[in-house]
Amino acid sequence: MKTIGVLTSGGDAPGMNAAIRAVVRTAIENNMHVLGINNGYDGLMKGDVIEMNLRSVSNILNRGGTILHSARSEGFKTEAGQKKAAEMCKALGIEGLVIIGGDGSFRGAQALATLGITCVGIPGTIDNDIACTDETIGFDTAMNTVMEMVDKIRDTAESHSRCSVVEVMGRDAGYIALYSGIAVGATIILVPEVEYDMQKDVIDVMKRTLATGKHHFVIIVAEGCGLATKMAKEIEEETGVETRATILGHVQRGGSPTVKDRVLASRMGNYAARVLRYDNRSCIVAEKDNKIVDYPINEALAMTKELDIDTYRMAHEISI
Ligand code: ADP
Ligand code: F6P
Repeated sequence: MKTIGVLTSGGDAPGMNAAIRAVVRTAIENNMHVLGINNGYDGLMKGDVIEMNLRSVSNILNRGGTILHSARSEGFKTEAGQKKAAEMCKALGIEGLVIIGGDGSFRGAQALATLGITCVGIPGTIDNDIACTDETIGFDTAMNTVMEMVDKIRDTAESHSRCSVVEVMGRDAGYIALYSGIAVGATIILVPEVEYDMQKDVIDVMKRTLATGKHHFVIIVAEGCGLATKMAKEIEEETGVETRATILGHVQRGGSPTVKDRVLASRMGNYAARVLRYDNRSCIVAEKDNKIVDYPINEALAMTKELDIDTYRMAHEISI
């Protein structure tokens, strides 16, 4: 393989730049040319590319976001869009593609692979909702951001003896909520994977905790569980504790990546470029038990992963 392309797709995640850097440097050190594709699959369909060299990726290891920009491309979801992208790859001499993104982006990779372009996916999303890998790039940074923000929220909640309901991202998954909830000592953590009853799991728990002398509360709600604002109103009415809702929003997607995300992204980026150079096969790169491995795209997309219910139970036992 002589020329490869690299793109970032879907929601951006801290550490995507570290992955781009590793792909570019590994490819060049192993005698390949690299084209950076701007704006994900949109840019690929248009042929919006830049030649990358060793210095194109200097000083990006520590930067959030993605220097290649990202997009959610409706056009690429169509058969015509995918054909156009594959033809563009051929016209530009791109024999292999590294796609840094989530499940949706990997479905795109699967489509391109069937059209003759070797595709290697790298899991980059704050949601950690990719089944084949223990962790995704960006997850650790997002959790650290939540922790930092909620520690601040707790200060004011404590001063005013209030309850703070904090809604965190994760789409349909509760990984960010569960692990950041443990890290901030949330009294209650709600995740979409576990059904909850407002009276029993929220109101009654708060009343029981109030009776032990605690006067402020932090409740972490995954966005997949419903609206924090609605929940805050109900809590105030039912418990008499003044309650505020905070939706953390896109602050969770930005910022300088943590050590863990920089290292994970570097390892995955290096692995992806080497697979293209030496094996020339399509796959999804993953981390399993601290080793970097890969799976065929079909297999990776068919996998499912479950939130650790023991950890969820533990979080509530120690948070009362
Ligand atoms: P993520 O990659 O983070 O899951 P999206 O679900 O938004 O984010 O997907 C990113 C892009 O991948 C979409 O905008 C679209 O261009 C492409 N994509 C998503 N689903 C498919 C699909 N089923 N087939 C082909 N391409 C897809
Ligand atoms: O997938 C990452 C993510 O930040 C989710 O946690 C969230 O549901 C979604 O993307 C938000 O998307 P947008 O940036 O389009 O508002």
